Amino acid sequence: MATEDTHGLGYHRVDDDPNVDVLIATMDGTAGWDATLRLRSWERAHLGLAHGERLLDVGCGLGEAALGLAQDLGDGGEVVGVDVSERMLRVARSNAGAARCRVRFTVGDACSLDEPDDSFDAARSERTLQWLADPAAAVAEMVRVVRPGGRVSLIDTDWSTFTIHVGDDALAALVRNGMRTERNRPSNVGRRLHDLVGAAGCVPLARTEATQTWTTWDPDESPAPLGCFSMESLADDLVATGRLATADRRRFVSTIHDAARRGQFLMSLTMFGVVAVAP
Ligand SMILES: C[S@@+](CC[C@H](N)C(=O)[O-])C[C@H]1O[C@@H](n2cnc3c(N)ncnc32)[C@H](O)[C@@H]1O
Repeated sequence: MATEDTHGLGYHRVDDDPNVDVLIATMDGTAGWDATLRLRSWERAHLGLAHGERLLDVGCGLGEAALGLAQDLGDGGEVVGVDVSERMLRVARSNAGAARCRVRFTVGDACSLDEPDDSFDAARSERTLQWLADPAAAVAEMVRVVRPGGRVSLIDTDWSTFTIHVGDDALAALVRNGMRTERNRPSNVGRRLHDLVGAAGCVPLARTEATQTWTTWDPDESPAPLGCFSMESLADDLVATGRLATADRRRFVSTIHDAARRGQFLMSLTMFGVVAVAP
């Protein structure tokens, strides 16, 4: 994978993206993040799924999280994964072989689910709201299809928490300030999950957060830190928003790469989770 291949990763329309294979590989990378594993295990404990229940995963991607929860549903349960990307679902279907319960991975839009009212015991959505124009509409749809008293679980990133420390305070401040503002997508939705479920009439049961930290990365081995975008892509974004001069782009990238080669690399990102009871 060339460094340029991680440029501008985005999950709005995976199937139309020329980098679809990179998008899929990156999702695999994020599934291995410590923070992802911690949040999924926390979610499992708070969802408290029982044998025979039906679970919906909205924006299910490669389906690992849904299939991981399938073991709690027993033979009589069912997992349904909905995603706008057929390419993601192809991988999800190929991963579904070992599940004991019924599994259905189907193409659909988070904001207009093709599922009946009150037809699930629980619905979850992970790192998908940040790619939607209207996250509240997607949460309303999840609430519509979950029975009263069922559970709704949201996990999402807050990109305003993203930091890079490479021994250069000005660079760290540039990145922090550049990521603070949402532009064409709700990239900071993680911090709003609790409010979103509350506004949809749910009663929050539990909330948490988990920070992913990267302490090592060899830019000569891998174009980007595991499951993340490249530093070229970050620089382009900062240039596009007028925070970084085009003339300084190359120096920005090489400062980070050189520090990482010296072992002086610390990057972090916080994700949030909430589990709530549906009205
Ligand atoms: C960052 S991935 C997260 C996948 C998975 N939930 C996970 O955590 O591993 C975002 C997913 O949302 C899907 N997606 C984006 N817009 C969507 C929409 N409007 N409706 C359903 N899925 C959507 C993408 O295709 C992608 O699979």
